[in-house]
Amino acid sequence: MGLGIPAFPLTIVTHVLGVVATVLVLVWLVNFRGGLAWEDENKQLIFNIHPFLIVFGLIVHGGEAIISYKALPLKKEVKKVVHLGLHGAALSLGIIGIYTAFKYHNESGIANLYSLHSWLGIGVIVLYGIQWIYGFVIFFYPGGTPDIRRFSLPWHALFGLFVFVLAVGTATLGFLEKLTFLESTGLDKYGSEALLVNFTAIITILFGVFVVLSALADAPAAADDYEAI
Ligand code: HEM
Repeated sequence: MGLGIPAFPLTIVTHVLGVVATVLVLVWLVNFRGGLAWEDENKQLIFNIHPFLIVFGLIVHGGEAIISYKALPLKKEVKKVVHLGLHGAALSLGIIGIYTAFKYHNESGIANLYSLHSWLGIGVIVLYGIQWIYGFVIFFYPGGTPDIRRFSLPWHALFGLFVFVLAVGTATLGFLEKLTFLESTGLDKYGSEALLVNFTAIITILFGVFVVLSALADAPAAADDYEAI
């Protein structure tokens, strides 16, 4: 399904929103939550790696991977490698991001996997992994037969958008959950930190909206097309 509109202005808005979401999450974690650390007495700093790697890695890299076919006027084979590489980076950073949430829980003596957010989070990363491996094997190496590729492509695109939207929804739940924890331990409900976290979640959702719109828009002419003329 295509929207019949050019992707170009939409992809620019998507890039800008991705940068803004990353900057906002960093401003929150560094200015209000004490920064990020892999090892520290203050276990909250270990937790802080989780939202950063998820937003910057899984969501922003994942979204950029999805729109790579629409954002870059390059040869199809080059775009395929960019798509695969960005998704690989998103998946790897997402796995490390989830690991840090477990690390924080384990080092703080908090139970694992008790929330809807965590259950959906496991679902997202498992589905993302399956989607990446299937795409690699069918479209890259060793590659499926032309019939299998033709059959798989629309399902790959649909399933990819589904997993991405689920990831954005799960991240939104994560922001909500963290802010609710903070507010229940005294954080001002209308204070600047609460507004920043809610606003960061809204920008993340808008990034997701523009990724989906860009994915449904028309790609720019590829370098192959110019060569063919
Ligand atoms: C697609 C995005 C995300 C995924 C896949 C994800 C995944 C997970 C998983 C699997 C856990 C459970 C760790 C454990 O039980 O030890 C967790 C915990 C947590 N995450 Fe996320 N997360 C995402 C985004 C976020 C974001 C953006 C925030 C914002 C602060 C966040 C906040 C939390 C919090 C507060 C916990 C600890 C409480 C709990 O287990 O629910 N998450 N996350």
